Amino acid sequence: MTKPDISKKKIFIIHGPNLNLLGTRDPEQYGTLTLDKVNSAIRKRAHDLGLETRIIQTNHEGRIIDLLHRRRKWADGIIINPGAFTHYSYAIRDAIEGIHTPVVEVHLSNIYEREDFRSVSVTKEVCSAQFFGKKVDSYLEALEYFTNQK
Ligand code: DQA
Repeated sequence: MTKPDISKKKIFIIHGPNLNLLGTRDPEQYGTLTLDKVNSAIRKRAHDLGLETRIIQTNHEGRIIDLLHRRRKWADGIIINPGAFTHYSYAIRDAIEGIHTPVVEVHLSNIYEREDFRSVSVTKEVCSAQFFGKKVDSYLEALEYFTNQK
């Protein structure tokens, strides 16, 4: 059995609701890559940066909260795209605040240049950083952010 590499930072990545539809969902906002391709790009960059990752997608608010709780000790950092929950889920906001693991929020699109309801993020203020508007590169910037943290 191979021993886990304890020198590697561990990053848990959560894709929220509707991100399983990437590739066909509003390509102008979200790009043309499928979720599998997005995950391949994340894994490749993580490998190059020497990070260990686990990636999950779920459409369910409660599952996101459970995952934040469950992975809080395993992860050195968490990257989350909460999808539309960003704009109104105080439950996810409270979970992020409660776990004391650094969480970075990402968005493929520029939420500040779309419909008014999207320009509000209730989760942002409890996150360590927010990257948005660069499609898959928003996630890659979040990986780099964690690489540069002590
Ligand atoms: C999103 C932006 C949200 O407003 C939207 O509901 C999503 C995706 C993004 O990645 O740009 O599902 O989080």
